[in-house]
Amino acid sequence: MALLGHGAVGSEVARLLTRDADELAQRVGARLELVGVAVNSARSDRETVFDPALLTTDAMSLVTRGDVDVVIELIGGIEPARSLVLAALEHGASVVTGNKALLAEDSTTLFATADAAGRDLSYEAAVAGAIPIVRPLRESLTGDHVRRVLGIVNGTTNFILDAMTSTGQSFDEALAEAQRLGFAEADPTADVEGFDAAAKAAILASLAFHTRVTIDDVHREGISSVTAAEIASADDMGCVVKLLAICDQSSDGQAVSARVHPVMIPKDHPLASVRGAYNAVFVESESAGQLMFYGPGAGGSPTASAVLGDVVAVARNRLLGVTGPPERTHARRRVLGIGDALTRYHIALDVDDKAGVLASVALAFAENEVSISAVQQEGHGDDAQLVVITHTATDAALSRTVRQLRDLPMVRDVSSVMRVEGEGL
Ligand SMILES: NC(=O)c1ccc[n+]([C@@H]2O[C@H](COP(=O)([O-])OP(=O)(O)OC[C@H]3O[C@@H](n4cnc5c(N)ncnc54)[C@H](OP(=O)(O)O)[C@@H]3O)[C@@H](O)[C@H]2O)c1
Repeated sequence: MALLGHGAVGSEVARLLTRDADELAQRVGARLELVGVAVNSARSDRETVFDPALLTTDAMSLVTRGDVDVVIELIGGIEPARSLVLAALEHGASVVTGNKALLAEDSTTLFATADAAGRDLSYEAAVAGAIPIVRPLRESLTGDHVRRVLGIVNGTTNFILDAMTSTGQSFDEALAEAQRLGFAEADPTADVEGFDAAAKAAILASLAFHTRVTIDDVHREGISSVTAAEIASADDMGCVVKLLAICDQSSDGQAVSARVHPVMIPKDHPLASVRGAYNAVFVESESAGQLMFYGPGAGGSPTASAVLGDVVAVARNRLLGVTGPPERTHARRRVLGIGDALTRYHIALDVDDKAGVLASVALAFAENEVSISAVQQEGHGDDAQLVVITHTATDAALSRTVRQLRDLPMVRDVSSVMRVEGEGL
């Protein structure tokens, strides 16, 4: 077995493989022997639980060795991870990876290569860290029809939004605190702009709907423009703001969509109670109904648990001469863009405080065939504000409505537009 990467996750995997070697041998039916660990830099101060002679900076030579039958890829990113995973499969190794970026970008090539080689490519750690969600979607629910998957799949953004909710902090203040506490990277772009969640949404939608969905199919908006006022407004309505990955199927089952954006959800929705850096995935399926998977979505130790679960499974398969269930994309459903997504909007408008404003605003909604669920007027004079919550409509119709509202002379500003999840408002 070869390990690629000895960072936050890789070093923990190495530690557990070493500490639990005897127990894992019992579970697998054979000893898991680590024959090499690839790293980027040949630092002399690196602490290892294994013989340092196993370290190498030549990952390609390691994965193409004849005696490596399982490769654990924990480098991350696209290259050289992609070339290494493909070479490992082509040379007869099964692969376990936690690399969501790679899977969301090029799963077609990766799974085709694994199929052609007759080897496993397992990736439980790629979505929501320790939480078992890939295997439940791929195996446990494979006799059911998944209709919808909603996920809080990025701990950094959940930590920031939770801090904004509980303390009234601005986005910048909450981000700075997350960075100080180690919940956000120095460069937080991948998390706060939703790239990480979008990769996971692509993986979840592909699994749930048996249709190839890549990161390019996923509409993505991050949380950097969420304001303290929007969080307060959500609170007034009995909601919290969450960054959700939303994977949907159309009512006729012919099309699917995947998107990531901030959403107001009612406080009694199970996902509303997911606090701090925790993750959760909410699945709706025809027969099982509603299921929620909850737990730590990142961190060396939790992620290593998911990696080791895959390692034991693929090692057992190697002994039995079989592979696990292959990736199924036979449904080939049409993948819709954001314009076709059905959603609801919460819109706050700064308006002139005079007669006829409400009628003009209502007309803009009616002309775009968007029906209004509730309207509330707040403040007077220069502070007059209208808050409108819509019923479900296509995102395209809602965007057209907002553009039309911006052009109305009595609308001074459209100060907030946020999607709403759930019909209960
Ligand atoms: N961290 C988490 O909480 C978490 C959660 C879920 C999934 N994941 C996924 O797990 C993977 C690993 O994440 P991580 O946080 O452990 O990353 P990390 O701490 O940055 O570690 C990356 C490791 O890869 C090594 N590496 C980089 N380039 C290499 C190359 N060209 N050849 C060989 N080794 C190379 C690095 O070597 P050096 O030690 O020499 O720098 C380092 O040991 C990623 O795909 C990530 O998305 C992570």
